[in-house]
Amino acid sequence: MYTPQAGIFALGTSSHAYLEFDLVEAGKRDEFAATISSIREPRTTTGGVNFVIGFRPELWRELAPGDIPADVEGFNKAVVGKEGFAMPATQHDGLVWLSGSAYDVVFDMARSVIRDVRGLASLASEMSSWPYRHDRDLTGFVDGSENPELLEAPSVALAPEGVAGAAGSVLLLQKWKHKTAEWEALSVTEQERAMGRTKADSIELENKPADSHVARTDQDEFGDIFRRNMPYGTVEDHGTVFVGFSAEQKRLARMLDSMAGLVTGTRDALTRYTEPLTGAYYFVPSVESLRRLR
Ligand code: HEM
Repeated sequence: MYTPQAGIFALGTSSHAYLEFDLVEAGKRDEFAATISSIREPRTTTGGVNFVIGFRPELWRELAPGDIPADVEGFNKAVVGKEGFAMPATQHDGLVWLSGSAYDVVFDMARSVIRDVRGLASLASEMSSWPYRHDRDLTGFVDGSENPELLEAPSVALAPEGVAGAAGSVLLLQKWKHKTAEWEALSVTEQERAMGRTKADSIELENKPADSHVARTDQDEFGDIFRRNMPYGTVEDHGTVFVGFSAEQKRLARMLDSMAGLVTGTRDALTRYTEPLTGAYYFVPSVESLRRLR
């Protein structure tokens, strides 16, 4: 029986930091892995921090051969879609996602993680995020309505017992910048048709357009995923950190293809109002697999 990293399912935290690292040289691989899997969270009950630690799939395969589903790979090339739309590939070697109840503890822990790996890996990308109006993204829509319940989420997000990489998860991390002026120039009815749900109460539209976001990512077609999206950014420059977990990479990859217009030829309307700036896949191994690296 393997145990998933608890931070995947730690809902309700209001402060987040996502640190992506690149090895300074290939020879530092094992020491980096040992260090990153040894980071310790503060133990106090109210001031704690959750960690999710992930590795570039090809790197994890070298570190722990056979402990990852066979077909999982990094975000190694851009998804080039219809009408000049593309999702860039910005894969890095490792990810530490920290979440907690307040940004000061996340900030201090993030700094200590960066210090711990100094000389082994460099910080390639840093993002932080925060909730907006309880459960909305910065389009103003409720985000996560079709997520599985927490009792269902492990079977959606985790490789099952008995397969390679059991209790591990494939994580897709993307930073999407919102084109706020264009989005807000739409009427609420037009926004609802782009999303496929109502804005006030997140009810799925009866006749949702084929290019609506929820039609293009329909889980009945592509399989279920578990999303932990959060808003990021400043008043002028902001968007969504897309954080999606799945037992199988192909569900996430097919959704991206579909959004880009590569499945039916119809591109997701949301991609006209948001722009992906980054894209990486990480394998998030089980707790037991991480402990073996220490
Ligand atoms: C700017 C980026 C994005 C924003 C603001 C966004 C927002 C939303 C919102 C508001 C919903 C409707 C409510 C809900 O069920 O959560 C939704 C649904 C969904 N989104 Fe996204 N999303 C984004 C990117 C993505 C990406 C990149 C994927 C897949 C890789 C994705 C997958 C899904 C799925 C699976 C659903 C539920 C579809 C269903 O009804 O079965 N989203 N998203």
